[in-house]
Amino acid sequence: MMKTSFSLRKFIQSSSNISLPLKFLKLESQHFYTSQAASPAYSQVCSDDDYADIDWDTIGFGLTPTDYMYVTKTSQQDDGFTEGQLKRYGNIELSPSAGVLNYGQGLFEGMKAIRREDGQIVLFRPDENALRMKVGAERMCMPSPTTTQFIDAVKQTTLANKRWIPPPGKGSLYMRPMLLGTGPILGLGPAPEYMFLVYASPVRNYFKEGSAPLSLNVEQEFDRASRGGTGGIKTISNYGPALRPLVRAKSKGFSDVLYLDSVDRKYVEEVSSCNIFMVKGNTISTPSIKGTILPGVTRKSIIEIARDLGYNVEERPVPVEELLEADEVFGTGTAVGVAPVGNITHHSRRVEYRTDDNSVSKRLLSTYMAIQNGLVEDKKGWIVELS
Ligand SMILES: Cc1ncc(COP(=O)(O)O)c(C=O)c1O
Repeated sequence: MMKTSFSLRKFIQSSSNISLPLKFLKLESQHFYTSQAASPAYSQVCSDDDYADIDWDTIGFGLTPTDYMYVTKTSQQDDGFTEGQLKRYGNIELSPSAGVLNYGQGLFEGMKAIRREDGQIVLFRPDENALRMKVGAERMCMPSPTTTQFIDAVKQTTLANKRWIPPPGKGSLYMRPMLLGTGPILGLGPAPEYMFLVYASPVRNYFKEGSAPLSLNVEQEFDRASRGGTGGIKTISNYGPALRPLVRAKSKGFSDVLYLDSVDRKYVEEVSSCNIFMVKGNTISTPSIKGTILPGVTRKSIIEIARDLGYNVEERPVPVEELLEADEVFGTGTAVGVAPVGNITHHSRRVEYRTDDNSVSKRLLSTYMAIQNGLVEDKKGWIVELS
């Protein structure tokens, strides 16, 4: 049973600069769903017909701050996260000795809210992100929100920021749930307090290439993950070390880095921010999940879609030499969708791949997007409708 320590009166008193729609506030397990106009400030910023005043044609994957974020906390004494609150998006206060700052005890998720042509707002498989956070939290000795709490928080944050969801076909609202060890701790150990927070930003293309094919460089010096490490979870501490290889690859004109396994540097693992697939004939292969690769929600979905479309899909160790002989290569991820790879450089060898309109990746991308946009029936229960 979810604990509700939240008091509406206290919240409103302590939030003089915050104007929240009553329909998003919950008190003592009661749900205050009301269609009545909330505060004037809210209706000014968030009438259902309104869009935020930005140029939707120029957004990329940079941060565009939105109106609200969702916050809830728990401590070692509590038995789970309490009911959270929507607050104005803004800075959070942390002790310098917070576990997340000192020992990297933190996780994040990434998912998208999409506005369809008929105005419907949908999420794609949010239960998968909730589950991945739960698995990551166990590895990082953190309490995690339940799947219901996680999805509810994402829904509330999405609807509170509705005006920031791009018009159909112009991107999506990227939702960033975070689980942070916020309590102070000096000696190495789990933090005494935790925060679960969700914020949002409208986004379009992840890579500056847009939907143009990616150029990848096989990383020779640095590893992303090690056996027994945390490569298989979405901990913040996986990403800092990936910056140097990424910046170096970009400075040489590549879009991203392709990592190999850290033991033999022989098998393909993944890209900094997406999973990797190769196509040879009617067979699509992707590295198997064995603790060093992030189990992508898009990866899992594309495997199912590809099998439904009649491709033979193999999850297995993929030697880099075999990747270099593939017909096609593509990356998958929430942020990138299904991104064709135009070329890969391994040592001094550069291999080009097929990326035309009849490519397998284009076919998979259009099916994946058609499910998200409601153009084909969602037979798998992947779509969660919000409005
Ligand atoms: C390292 C890494 N691999 C793969 C992915 C793709 O995962 P998903 O499809 O769940 O977005 C991501 C995306 O966040 C990632 O950071």
